[in-house]
Amino acid sequence: MTDFALNRHIHGLNVPHVRLGEYPTPIEHLPALGDVWLKREDLSSPVYGGNKIRTLETLFADARAGGIKRVWTLGAYGSNQAVACILHARRLGLQPGAVLFPQRATPAGAENLRVSLGECADVKTLRSIASFPLHWLALHRAHGREAYLVPPGGANPLGALGHVANALEIAEQLNAGAMPTPEHLVVAIGSTCTTAGLLVGLPLAKQLGLWPGELPKLHAVRVTPWPVTARSQVLRLARATAKYLHEIGGPEVKVDPKLLVLNTRHFGWGYARVTRDGLAAAARFRALGAPPLDTTYAAKSGAALLKFTHGPTLFWCTKSSAALPDVPDAKLAHAPAFIRRWLRRAEQTATA
Ligand SMILES: Cc1ncc(COP(=O)(O)O)c(C=O)c1O
Repeated sequence: MTDFALNRHIHGLNVPHVRLGEYPTPIEHLPALGDVWLKREDLSSPVYGGNKIRTLETLFADARAGGIKRVWTLGAYGSNQAVACILHARRLGLQPGAVLFPQRATPAGAENLRVSLGECADVKTLRSIASFPLHWLALHRAHGREAYLVPPGGANPLGALGHVANALEIAEQLNAGAMPTPEHLVVAIGSTCTTAGLLVGLPLAKQLGLWPGELPKLHAVRVTPWPVTARSQVLRLARATAKYLHEIGGPEVKVDPKLLVLNTRHFGWGYARVTRDGLAAAARFRALGAPPLDTTYAAKSGAALLKFTHGPTLFWCTKSSAALPDVPDAKLAHAPAFIRRWLRRAEQTATA
């Protein structure tokens, strides 16, 4: 049994879990921004960190419990989830695969796609998003038999439990004096998995008598379009996660929609589109020696953070700061010509 905060705090609960990360991820003050504190999810693993690791811990454990060796994931060319899935699956003896659809060509996207292609033999790069639903359907059909499907962002109730556990972890850190009880949490919202998990974990922590004081507002900063991140979708996953937790032996948790503040002001022109205030936030973080903000996700939530002026605020550093494996061009010779063109274009795109 691993030391999973949910299993530890809820008597009799035995959520499948494999440990991929190192916890608790630190909470650090960033005094240059006032009452701003960082939840260093970027440090969750030296192999590849970020917020996706917690999601994979329950999903991979479920795959292993079912005796399944193949794990497939889906996402955009520059998906952090795909990189995390590929680099961590093989540590457990699981065979990873990924189906990736086109996105805006950016240096951050190219960096990830190089790793996905260079480190995994089974990466299907689609020419167009139009064929994505067919691939999804095929993988869905195979799910639970010859393959295990990790949905985009790991966004299902089992995947979200990793983030429910993170709320308990934070409550423990608050009780140990890591920071004053936050009034605001700020996180990028892409697949909704992290936000939905926190929307269950926060009231759960309160119910268990772990959370000191009032619960904070959770500011979810949109980086993927409506309807993926529609308020109703976020709450739907949160309620499904609470229901699932109850079904497997946890307490009943009521999701409070009032905790959720959906911030749509930093989305810009679309998913993976670089924004001016995102770039400014990334530059500010760099200048302060703070963790990296990627232009697709964390820079947009960073831009929202820089607008904050009130109360203790905890910011999710969701982009891994682990060094990625070096993938020389020779290792990408097998990639289709249109992908090698995409990589060249993306690597030449200036974002600063
Ligand atoms: C760096 C980063 N930040 C934030 C998110 C958003 O998390 P979620 O998909 O759980 O909403 C992602 C999702 O892939 C991510 O890669």
